[in-house]
Amino acid sequence: MVLFFLFSCGGEEELVSGIPANLGDHITVISDFSQRTGDADAGKEYLLTGDYIKSGVPRSTFDNTIALTTNAQNVLNRSGINEDVYFEYTALMHPNGVEVVSPNCFQCHGGYVDGDFILGLGNSLQDFTADQSGFGTLLDGIVESNYGIPSLEWDAYYPFSRSVATTGSQLITESVGANPADKLALVLAAHRDKDDLTWRDVPGISIPDEVVPADVPAWWLLKKKSVMFSTGIGRGDFAKMMMASSILTLEDTTEARIIDDRFVDVKEFINSIEAPAYPQSIDIVRAGRGEELFKINCAACHGTYGDDASYQTILVDHEILGTDPLLANSNYAYDEFEEWFNTSWFGTDRYAAAIVPGDGYIAQPLDGVWATAPYFHNGSVPTLEDVLNSWARPTYWSVTGSQNNYDHSKAGLDYTTQESKINKFTYDTTLPGYGNMGHEFGDHLSDTQRLDLIEYLKSL
Ligand code: HEC
Ligand code: HEC
Repeated sequence: MVLFFLFSCGGEEELVSGIPANLGDHITVISDFSQRTGDADAGKEYLLTGDYIKSGVPRSTFDNTIALTTNAQNVLNRSGINEDVYFEYTALMHPNGVEVVSPNCFQCHGGYVDGDFILGLGNSLQDFTADQSGFGTLLDGIVESNYGIPSLEWDAYYPFSRSVATTGSQLITESVGANPADKLALVLAAHRDKDDLTWRDVPGISIPDEVVPADVPAWWLLKKKSVMFSTGIGRGDFAKMMMASSILTLEDTTEARIIDDRFVDVKEFINSIEAPAYPQSIDIVRAGRGEELFKINCAACHGTYGDDASYQTILVDHEILGTDPLLANSNYAYDEFEEWFNTSWFGTDRYAAAIVPGDGYIAQPLDGVWATAPYFHNGSVPTLEDVLNSWARPTYWSVTGSQNNYDHSKAGLDYTTQESKINKFTYDTTLPGYGNMGHEFGDHLSDTQRLDLIEYLKSL
């Protein structure tokens, strides 16, 4: 209060705090749900090499197709059959003895910023702009001609192939980095029996056409939050919610229970991941001024950091937040999906998870926020400077697709403003779900104040 008083009297320009006066009417504080505890080391091992996606491409077919287009630096430091496998895939033995290579969580939850690979960072270079079903058909042909049908290899491959064929044309996003995972979950749920999770060819719930993009949240933030997902829709047992990704190739609930037991450890490992430190020097004086600005303008929603750190998960409603509402109103909030999930094995068996739609987005913790560009739930804003100045946000912006993608002065992705969409690396904020409006809480700051605040944000 004292700070605010000094602040509002001392300046030559009239400054108002960025926090709406009636904030309490527009936020919902979400209390913690008691989580199962597990073993982080075992979780790491399972996440990096385990068989939560049991079906995949037979190894030699993988080596002669997908592996040829990937760069297999061993960024996950794996050994054995995974030593030369790209981080987005895991080699494992199918129960029938065939070695397969399957996509893993790092397809979306590992990525590069400023030239360095960071485990748990959203993969802003992941490309979902193409229809995958054609590639799936091609792979089917190769596997069939290599091993024949029936064969053990085909058996080990088939559930994966079936999912690619079913989902491949329904996940297309408009730019590289825009992630369709919420739609993927919906399509896969539609093709599962909600009680025993076995596959059904005819979808049990209707599937909307739209693919609403999401930005992948950094994993090191989860330990502070009482909910999952930017919409705060993921409630209850986190391990159970996370292991839902395995419905890509899962057999049934017998297998799901085994995976669920291991995911208690995976959740523990995710909670052990720390935010990466900013790699360059930070101007302490500026950051100190930025910290005072942060306390006045931001902390009520985003919490405090450092010695007296505190954070509570709050859902901020659309009326005062104003960011693109489509994600909060679609996919997981789609009532047929909500009903499916909450009455399915995931929502009813032991350690239930739940979907609870709301009207807005979570104010995330900002630890390591320098690294998590692009920003907002849809990744529509490329830098922290643009987050803090809504007028400066580019309508069309493009990146090069390089892993050396960082702009240290604006703190975020190194981008070029475009007049229109030029290629798949252009983010077009005029599209439904891709809007960059709202969160105007930094607009009243001066340019100098914004720089101070960015310097402070780099230190979190
Ligand atoms: C196809 C991309 C993709 C894959 C594969 C994927 N995820 Fe995610 N994940 C996402 C996206 C996108 C979100 C955010 C969704 C949202 O906020 O609406 C997310 C959210 C999460 C969250 C919540 C984070 C938070 O802070 O709210 C966790 C935890 C998580 N995923 C774990 C996993 C695990 C474990 C796996 C592997 C078993 C996995 N994910 C596989 C894309 C993916
Ligand atoms: C009224 C609550 C509120 C206030 C005040 C507020 N924020 Fe936010 N902030 C949010 C919410 C909610 C989101 C998520 C918006 C979305 O994803 O659409 C967000 C998103 C962000 C993000 C993007 C995070 C990411 O990883 O995508 C940053 C950075 C951020 N805020 C910084 C700030 C700063 C700095 C201030 C102070 C100038 C501030 N915020 C003030 C609620 C608030």
